[in-house]
Amino acid sequence: MNKDNLLNEIFEYIKNYDSQIGELINFQTPERLREKLDFSILPAGGDDNSLLTDVQNYLKYSVKTNNKQFLNQLYSGENLPAFIGEIITALTNTSMYTYEVAPIATLIEKELINKMCKIAGFKNGGGTFATGGSNANMLAMMSARNKILPLVKQKGLQSAPLLSAFVSDQSHYSFDTAANILGIGSKHVYKIKSDSSGKMIVSDLQNAIENSIKRGETPFFIAATAGTTLLGAFDSLDKIANIAKLYHLWMHVDGSFGGSIILSKKYKFLFKGLENADSFTWNPHKLMNVPLIASVLLLKDKHRLMKNLSDLNTDYIYHDNDLEEYNLGKQSVQCGRRVDALKVWLAWRYYGDLGYEKRINRMFELAAHAEKTVKNNDKLQLLAERQSLNINFIYKSKDRSKDNELNLMIRENLMRKGISMVNYGYLKDKVSIRLVISNPDVSEKDLNEFFNNFIAMGDSIQEKITENTPKAHTEKCLISENYE
Ligand SMILES: Cc1ncc(COP(=O)(O)O)c(C=O)c1O
Repeated sequence: MNKDNLLNEIFEYIKNYDSQIGELINFQTPERLREKLDFSILPAGGDDNSLLTDVQNYLKYSVKTNNKQFLNQLYSGENLPAFIGEIITALTNTSMYTYEVAPIATLIEKELINKMCKIAGFKNGGGTFATGGSNANMLAMMSARNKILPLVKQKGLQSAPLLSAFVSDQSHYSFDTAANILGIGSKHVYKIKSDSSGKMIVSDLQNAIENSIKRGETPFFIAATAGTTLLGAFDSLDKIANIAKLYHLWMHVDGSFGGSIILSKKYKFLFKGLENADSFTWNPHKLMNVPLIASVLLLKDKHRLMKNLSDLNTDYIYHDNDLEEYNLGKQSVQCGRRVDALKVWLAWRYYGDLGYEKRINRMFELAAHAEKTVKNNDKLQLLAERQSLNINFIYKSKDRSKDNELNLMIRENLMRKGISMVNYGYLKDKVSIRLVISNPDVSEKDLNEFFNNFIAMGDSIQEKITENTPKAHTEKCLISENYE
């Protein structure tokens, strides 16, 4: 097969991929999928005929996250300009470390970071694209650590004071990972209680800081969340910023999920106080519907990233001091770095600020519709007041002690039958089905269809829940597997 034919066939296939195999998911257990497909390592001689079939198989058994019944994750939907950006990035295959090899990409990334800093209220801010919200959060914690302990770069933490960090009990698990990587230890990331809406209880934060000081620790970092993973809650950034100021702590805002909501004038009030933070994670790959990965860490001090890493001995890459400002690799913990900025830039130019504002507002409208549907249906129960785009609910089992098992079974059955995908978490010990609106192209009709299917499945399987039905998992470690 010659190269042109092959590419034409693949692009033709991609163009039609909705109509040819438009189902949401063709669920197979790992064992069955292994039986169906040959995963063996490539034949010694290579096989150029396998490419098309391999691509077809890949598409056939992948989840179609642009399907309107994919309500499972904090990302979904499609975005043509960003998709094109992704292709061009692969086509022009380069790395973001020097201006020399990535001239236009460098200027695009700098422009985007400037724009996003302005929106966040960081007048002299800077930042970088990261490999995801988790890593952006880690870079924020690293920046805070290196600010309070400037010598840690060379000396390590051996003779350093015991640092402590503060997040809410609804925060993302990446802060524990970050503390692990940075030598702070996840035990020293204190989880402040949240209220029933999922917001950090700020008075508890202050108590926790005082207690940490009494124990002889050195508090250095608070992370507030702008859009929690399960409830979509926004912490009170202004109040938390006041406490950070009082104790001279670094304040980070994790907007990995909700960050893009700042693009809506109507909902920007949720970010009141962000301008007083030191750093902000914002993932265009979630609510801006840009393909993964597109994640940005913004910092109030534009020199901080460079200070984190300064003395790099790298004369084989960074030759020209005049271009230092444009050699973005000097601000990154990566050496080779993908051009993630292009897809964000193309999409932003295509939709414009106004287009994105409309998309965000539309998601809120859809979330309100879903919430109303739950509230108006006797068979369903809303488990927490809606904070932004997440609706937490359950189907009420006749025997309420079986709510957990029944709801997990409904969800699992809908997925295995390829009808819809929705995720879940736990509110205390109660399973909470988490419907999240992250795709503005979903319609009210799609949501009605989802709830009708959910209820019909509940009606049909509720009698199957018996004394012998295994208890649903309630351990925290299993819960987190179901989050992104
Ligand atoms: C609040 C929050 N922070 C961080 C993350 C991690 O982001 P990423 O998946 O880009 O690593 C998520 C992911 O869902 C999140 O919801």
